Amino acid sequence: MTDLTKTPRDAASAEPMVKAEGVHKSYGLVEVLKGIDLEVRQSEVFCLVGPSGSGKSTFLRCINHLEKINGGRLWVDGELVGYRQKGDRLHELKDREVALKRRDIGMVFQRFNLFPHMTAVENVMEAPVQVKRENKAAARERSMALLERVGLADKAGNYPSQLSGGQQQRVAIARALAMKPKLMLFDEPTSALDPELVGEVLDVMRGLAEEGMTMIVVTHEMGFAREVGDALVFMDGGVVVESGNPREVLTNPQHARTRAFLSKVL
Ligand SMILES: Nc1ncnc2c1ncn2[C@@H]1O[C@H](COP(=O)(O)OP(=O)(O)OP(=O)(O)O)[C@@H](O)[C@H]1O
Ligand SMILES: [Mg+2]
Repeated sequence: MTDLTKTPRDAASAEPMVKAEGVHKSYGLVEVLKGIDLEVRQSEVFCLVGPSGSGKSTFLRCINHLEKINGGRLWVDGELVGYRQKGDRLHELKDREVALKRRDIGMVFQRFNLFPHMTAVENVMEAPVQVKRENKAAARERSMALLERVGLADKAGNYPSQLSGGQQQRVAIARALAMKPKLMLFDEPTSALDPELVGEVLDVMRGLAEEGMTMIVVTHEMGFAREVGDALVFMDGGVVVESGNPREVLTNPQHARTRAFLSKVL
């Protein structure tokens, strides 16, 4: 997982992991994303904050092509999302090709979405075995190591109903990591958790960041954004209102809308 050839946070010159140019997304007549421009660099922890309905989840869903954008361009690791470019023409990818690319992107949701009829370790090894046809014994061993890494080696045989919310979310993170993603998307991973369980999930995320994982994190945890984040974007009404170093944006927001939002969550 850790790429020792690359120093975390020192990849400014490399191709961005995600690049959005004028990304638009509408549902029917409702325009939800109104031209998003941003760049997420390799190994960066990129925090996305904003009020409910501002389009944060929609944007994440566009990145792994669960939603199709209506305008603009979106790249992941140098490749257009959902299209292949031939000369100056774009060809839409087939579902199978989209699914193949989606494997490289791990997604962790607010609700953990574990398979309820499978134990923790079975949840983690499911995709490597079913999707990548990995050898079962090898996948189990790797999954055990991942559970250990999120501090749950002793819970491998538990079903989701026998785990706390924080533990379930850590299993969900291990499950995403099992596919060896190059990018992790977190959509409010701690907001369904009791306050005393938030820390254990953020600790796992902090560890991932230290290992150099590129992460986009939608969160209201401003402490996490301040300590771990490399960049912070404040979105409102489908546009990027303000972006920059999290410590600067949080201490000295430039826009009234950002200030109003922060006064509610800080
Ligand atoms: N499938 C859909 N069909 C129609 N409208 C949608 C759909 N998904 C999202 N929307 C609308 O798009 C807007 C943005 O939604 P989105 O879920 O991206 O917001 P968000 O910033 O993630 O909010 P929250 O903080 O509440 O999760 C909302 O007004 C929502 O009602
Ligand atoms: Mg959302």
